[in-house]
Amino acid sequence: MLRAAGLVKSYRAPSGMPIRVLAGVDLTVKGGEIVVVAGPSGSGKSTLLNVLGLLEDGDGGEVWFEDTRVSALGRSARSQARGRYVGFLFQSFLLLPSLTALENVLLAARYVGRSGAAMRRRARELLAEVGVADRMDHFPAQLSGGEQQRVAFCRAVLNDPPLLLADEPTGNLDDANGAVILGALRGRARAGAAVVVVSHRPEAAAGASALYRLRGGVLESS
Ligand SMILES: Nc1ncnc2c1ncn2[C@@H]1O[C@H](COP(=O)(O)OP(=O)(O)OP(=O)(O)O)[C@@H](O)[C@H]1O
Ligand SMILES: [Mg+2]
Repeated sequence: MLRAAGLVKSYRAPSGMPIRVLAGVDLTVKGGEIVVVAGPSGSGKSTLLNVLGLLEDGDGGEVWFEDTRVSALGRSARSQARGRYVGFLFQSFLLLPSLTALENVLLAARYVGRSGAAMRRRARELLAEVGVADRMDHFPAQLSGGEQQRVAFCRAVLNDPPLLLADEPTGNLDDANGAVILGALRGRARAGAAVVVVSHRPEAAAGASALYRLRGGVLESS
């Protein structure tokens, strides 16, 4: 489902000095697999997910979704591929402040031109699955951090994307709710999705198909 080869990415520090974050990352994730990437703060985990999910361009290397080299596509084809393939769970949630929890979840369906009663029902079911059904009419500012994280999870999985990229999906959750989200991510993998989870938390690695560490800009098996 997902293949990355030779991903390279540097940022420029405010001083102008280049910061090399990815130094040749190779990664393959098949449908049904859940791959966990660990690594300390600042090691490039979010950068890697952003490049895999076509939210940022790498400076070099390739990203493939199935048989398409998506990293070579133009801007609009790339955003189409992203809409069709990728569910992204952001480290900072990125819920829209002017929409309720339920509306934020349904936004995912709107991006791909789906809507209607069946999607609303599915959105409600997902919110119930992660324990926030009673908060669905709250705006993000009226939700705790962990509740926002759970709403963001529902938005990421609403369309059943074949590729799920989750950035510290349990970062704001207590153990019990963290276990619910990790269980739900494993459930998506069992249902056939390719799942990449980036996390410092050792629990995230339980049940993973593969565990890597991002060190010095490359992935090491661990
Ligand atoms: N736009 C940017 N400009 C300059 N430097 C950046 C930029 N974005 C990220 N960086 C730097 O790149 C490095 C990797 O950042 P990244 O967010 O990928 O780390 P991370 O592993 O996700 O960390 P955390 O666990 O804290 O979320 C960091 O040292 C960061 O300061
Ligand atoms: Mg990060």
